Amino acid sequence: MEIKEIKYLSSEYEQALELRDKILRKPLGMKLTEEFCRQDKEDFIFGIFEKNRIRAILHLKPLSDSVLKMRQVAVDNTLQGKGYGSKLVMFSERFARNNNYKKIVLHARKNAVPFYLKLNYKITSDEFYEIGILHFNMEKTILHF
Ligand SMILES: CC(C)(COP(=O)(O)OP(=O)(O)OC[C@H]1O[C@@H](n2cnc3c(N)ncnc32)[C@H](O)[C@@H]1OP(=O)(O)O)[C@@H](O)C(=O)NCCC(=O)NCCS
Repeated sequence: MEIKEIKYLSSEYEQALELRDKILRKPLGMKLTEEFCRQDKEDFIFGIFEKNRIRAILHLKPLSDSVLKMRQVAVDNTLQGKGYGSKLVMFSERFARNNNYKKIVLHARKNAVPFYLKLNYKITSDEFYEIGILHFNMEKTILHF
């Protein structure tokens, strides 16, 4: 297993798009659009790879010099519940710390809230609808020692 940064529009980015479409969009009867993907341009994108195949994906979008938004977190369906998601979140928190960010915020799908709670993210809003499903705002302060 290898965690790598993925460059926008690289061949690995194309693999990542397929995984995002399969895990995050198709189950909702939606498709990734070109317009939506243009938002990826400024993101830091990380993936878990095994034998050059992408297994999990996570984006960090800088909202300011101190805040990152975690988005597009997805693990291939046959590999969920085996620690891939946690590994990628912890990797991205190290990235945030090393690059002097102070906080990670995210919109958690309701089904994924227990996953983020286990990783010590806190709920900071009431539930709200986004892309037709319930979400909560969550966040975690990045500690600097
Ligand atoms: C949510 C998701 C990213 C979690 O990644 P994962 O690799 O499956 O999770 P992990 O194996 O690292 O799980 C870590 C812990 O969270 C728990 N957990 C993970 N997903 C959970 C869920 N949906 N409900 C309850 N607990 C969950 C695991 O049981 C595990 O607990 P443990 O440490 O006590 O064993 C992944 O399941 C996924 O891609 N789901 C579909 C897409 C999605 O909902 N993405 C999030 C959008 S905000």
